[in-house]
Amino acid sequence: MLQSKNILLGVSGGIAVYKAAALTSKLVQAGANVRVIMTESAREFVSPLTFQALSRHEVYVDTFKENNPKVIAHIDVADWADLILVAPATAHTIGKMAAGLADDMLTTTLLASTAPVWIAPAMNVHMYDHPAVKRNIRTLYEDGYRFIEPSEGYLACGYIGKGRLEEPEKIVEHIRAFFEEPKSLPLSGKKVVVTAGPTREVIDPVRFFTNRSSGKMGYAIAEAAQQMGADVTLISGPVSLTEPNHVHVVHVESAEDMYQAALAEYEEADLFIKSAAVADYTPVTSYPHKMKKQDGALEIEFTRTKDILKELGKRKEHQVLVGFAAETQDVEYYAKKKIESKHLDMIVANNVTKEGAGFATDTNVAAIIKADGTTKELPMMSKKDLAFEILKEAKQLLPKERDRA
Ligand code: PMT
Repeated sequence: MLQSKNILLGVSGGIAVYKAAALTSKLVQAGANVRVIMTESAREFVSPLTFQALSRHEVYVDTFKENNPKVIAHIDVADWADLILVAPATAHTIGKMAAGLADDMLTTTLLASTAPVWIAPAMNVHMYDHPAVKRNIRTLYEDGYRFIEPSEGYLACGYIGKGRLEEPEKIVEHIRAFFEEPKSLPLSGKKVVVTAGPTREVIDPVRFFTNRSSGKMGYAIAEAAQQMGADVTLISGPVSLTEPNHVHVVHVESAEDMYQAALAEYEEADLFIKSAAVADYTPVTSYPHKMKKQDGALEIEFTRTKDILKELGKRKEHQVLVGFAAETQDVEYYAKKKIESKHLDMIVANNVTKEGAGFATDTNVAAIIKADGTTKELPMMSKKDLAFEILKEAKQLLPKERDRA
């Protein structure tokens, strides 16, 4: 599938270098011609001989080692590449790239090349979240570089969080998709709005009602939509997740805040996906001072919140509207009722009592049901993969003529 494509793999120094070896092998197996440049620190982790054996080419390690007097190595390999992939990309290499530095074979070649460059970062979760790293990533993104976001999970440093180099198979999949659709990505020109996380309904300055939503499902959709080329706004309730890159994030707290934010974004949206778990009830009174303990039971009066999705359904014009249904029984029946009552185009129904599904897990089990009744039952999969499935199905419902400039 990557037959005869010349892929230059830039390997910088982090523990994920071992995964870059597997990536080299997968690229070669996919038919690509692979050449590898290693930074000095990458060589501390894995020997160039490993990459030489896997790519069947000598590995570039030193800018000043010119084996062929007829060419200048970094110019030659920069011109040779159809695509450059930097994986793993450390915070240091990303910083040098953003600053336009050229102090080793990799960064010199990157500046000398006109090939598209994909960057797959891998680092500690706090490094990835550091304002300097975020700023450098933003700069590179604005310069036209493309990113393969790291995944979440156990990191070699012992932390659990975002920073793992994406799995080699998935990186190959991104590269393959890029060569298949080099001019535009599937959601290029589309504005996608996603809601995520819980809402908080305040009782007093120290107490609130909320629910178990972690925001993982909605954040995965926002990230996937961005990778598919959309202009994405994420309306997020209070969660402790890292903001996806290149996504406009609007932070909200209560159901009422989310309602206001959703209406403000609605007109411009082509696709609106409501994966947030919005409170159905809010306290009638929110006290300005901490409520004092009293003897006996406490009664709090609640009132209904606005049903955001229903309101969006009423106001629907050109938008494709996708809801979620978090059910514990008769999932399909209730999901179909929501399609009707909220005037939806599609709903993602998950039985939140199922193992590996629903709140706060990394996986989900869902059925995608369209307004015409067609249903796609999906097996358990990561929320990331489900996000792509949802977007693939929703894309089919988008009117073709509303492409933006
Ligand atoms: O965030 P995670 O931990 O990853 O968990 C994911 C999830 C379980 C939250 C997600 O998969 C999910 O099911 N989201 C919808 C949760 C929900 O509130 O479902 P519901 O069946 O109560 O509501 C139906 C739809 O109406 C939802 O799209 C909801 O956003 C919307 N709604 C609900 C109430 C309200 N006042 N306004 C709304 O717009």
